[in-house]
Amino acid sequence: MAPIGYLETGVIYCDDNLHRLAQFPADSVDLIYLDPPFFSNRHYEVIWGDEAEVRSFEDRFQGGIHVYVEWMRDRLIELHRILKPTGSIYLHCDWHAGHYLKIAMDDIFGNRQFQNEFVWYYSGGGFEEAMGAQARHHPVLHQG
Ligand SMILES: C[S@@+](CC[C@H](N)C(=O)[O-])C[C@H]1O[C@@H](n2cnc3c(N)ncnc32)[C@H](O)[C@@H]1O
Repeated sequence: MAPIGYLETGVIYCDDNLHRLAQFPADSVDLIYLDPPFFSNRHYEVIWGDEAEVRSFEDRFQGGIHVYVEWMRDRLIELHRILKPTGSIYLHCDWHAGHYLKIAMDDIFGNRQFQNEFVWYYSGGGFEEAMGAQARHHPVLHQG
């Protein structure tokens, strides 16, 4: 794909972001938010609106966590290339791979660039069950 000469805004691209990102000029983006597959090893199906249209995506990576992290690393390298030096990037992930992604981002962006971690706060979410007599694990959701 040829590089694009300017940034089109208000456009949603529905293809592999690795190839799409390669078209963006270096140091051209102020803000990046990404909500990638979480390495949950699940198949997701979501029903949208009243049409009962099912949209689905696979969050399965044959070969395990290192295959997933390398898949993400390729994209993070492109994101680093296109992010302005004054820009910000937010990565949404969870316990499945969050620690691996933190290390990958420290490698690529520099660990001194890291600002903070935001944590979802939920009530409920299996806390009582997880803390009960039959508990086999700690709750996966953060509690106050
Ligand atoms: C955790 S979901 C995010 C869902 C989305 N934020 C939402 O609220 O509907 C991960 C998304 O990444 C998409 N995805 C997976 N591989 C991709 C790729 N190579 N390029 C772009 N998107 C990809 C999946 O289709 C899925 O929609």
